Amino acid sequence: MTSDPGSSISIEAPRREDGRRYALLFVDDEEAILETLQMTFEDDYDVHLAKGGDEGLELLEREEIAVVIADQRMPGMEGAEFLERAVEIRPEAIRMMITGYADITAVIHAVNEGRIHRYIQKPWESHEIRLNVRQAIDAYQLSHEKGQLAAALKEAHDRLRRENLYLRREVERRYAFEEIIGESPAMQKVFDVLEKVAETDATVLLTGETGTGKDLVARAVHYAGPRKKRRFVAQNCGALPETLLESELFGHKRGAFTGAHADKKGLFEISDRGTIFLDEIGETTPGMQVRLLRVLQDGEIRPLGTADTRRVDVRIIAATNCDLRKEVEEGRFREDLYYRLRVVEIHLPPLRERRTDIPPLAHHFLDQANKKMGKSLQGFTNDGMDRLMACEWTGNVRELGNEIERAVALAGGAERISAEMLSEEIRGPRREFESGGGGFTPTDTDLNRTVDDLKRHMIREAIRDTGSKSKAAERLGIPRQSLQKMMKRLGL
Ligand SMILES: Nc1ncnc2c1ncn2[C@@H]1O[C@H](COP(=O)(O)OP(=O)(O)OP(=O)(O)O)[C@@H](O)[C@H]1O
Ligand SMILES: [Mg+2]
Repeated sequence: MTSDPGSSISIEAPRREDGRRYALLFVDDEEAILETLQMTFEDDYDVHLAKGGDEGLELLEREEIAVVIADQRMPGMEGAEFLERAVEIRPEAIRMMITGYADITAVIHAVNEGRIHRYIQKPWESHEIRLNVRQAIDAYQLSHEKGQLAAALKEAHDRLRRENLYLRREVERRYAFEEIIGESPAMQKVFDVLEKVAETDATVLLTGETGTGKDLVARAVHYAGPRKKRRFVAQNCGALPETLLESELFGHKRGAFTGAHADKKGLFEISDRGTIFLDEIGETTPGMQVRLLRVLQDGEIRPLGTADTRRVDVRIIAATNCDLRKEVEEGRFREDLYYRLRVVEIHLPPLRERRTDIPPLAHHFLDQANKKMGKSLQGFTNDGMDRLMACEWTGNVRELGNEIERAVALAGGAERISAEMLSEEIRGPRREFESGGGGFTPTDTDLNRTVDDLKRHMIREAIRDTGSKSKAAERLGIPRQSLQKMMKRLGL
């Protein structure tokens, strides 16, 4: 029981028949608002918070949510769209929308189409929103008991099926292989394997340094294959302590451990007939590795705190940026699990080994940044592109993307991105020719001779590092024939 200071309303917290508290879900991209809502409700309800639509849908699937309240204005998925999809997952939940004055058309639409039960206008008073939630709980109890909404829900459900098709197509487009940029022979080889493997259920192990596109590729494999209509869920295996990770992946029964207040479905069940992406698989503990092996061998999972096993049909894609073979050799990773995971292994080469991909990627990120910031930069100056081509890119494609976004943000009135608009690190002379052996220091004042010396230096290094002329040419970003000619001319 709580009472609101400054108002005479006092509301007793309602309970389910079995004495449990009702669960509320708030979806808003503004953390400050989520915090306020949590404080307003946490004494009386189980409060769940999501920073965006996707996170919200996942919570809806797992938790027995009675009332869901979403902000209309969110980047990515708007409130109306989220609530529409919420109907499909949890039709009995009462849906409300938080809106500002400007969203009124969206509200009218949503109300008319039965997607939301009511809306809450910004700014709200805390006693007012508490009363609204209380009324929503009453409505929830009613609809639960009497099943009144069944017919209306079925209709909404059918409509959503149709609209979902459209949404899915959009998502598919976003993750299809076309979105993965790569003209280099190395990436072309990756595409060949991806296309073949997407059609199958084979377990895939993605390896590669940070920022090489493992996430992007994992999604593409899912959305290009026959499981695309089912869920794709991702879990970073390095981010949680063992018990929590186990409960995330396999689920738990109420009371399985301290803090397990209710039954919870694990991601393996949520992604049944879909795909699960296990990121940073190399970080898993020995205990976890045993459990994963069991899923891979028998397709069975056992939620924490239960004795019964359940069958799941999940495609597994795993990723790591460490050398898993070495982890096996040194006894930190189970060999049997390693072989189960790498039925197909796809290695994403670092960007510095496929420099011909830099220009198309740079233009791709420039387009994105232009759109995002409402700018219209035209491209790169020669010296700007030269710098990008020469950089080591230890953070790979992600680092390149960030660099270009930064340059666009700071571009002012510039038409093209030039060398001096790039960050110190990229411009700095140290990083440029650092790869492997000694750096290059000009000893001559004649420009042409110095440039030739530099070319000799870079070519020698490239051949030494890559072990072949064609790979060296790729790394240097020039055709193999040009490299051959250049070597002749330079007397190499
Ligand atoms: N070939 C590519 N084409 C277009 N964008 C790419 C490509 N590769 C990576 N990106 C973009 O670069 C960023 C980093 O990629 P991603 O998150 O997939 O890397 P990762 O390998 O999973 O890195 P980490 O090991 O750090 O998790 C993302 O924004 C992704 O969209
Ligand atoms: Mg990743």
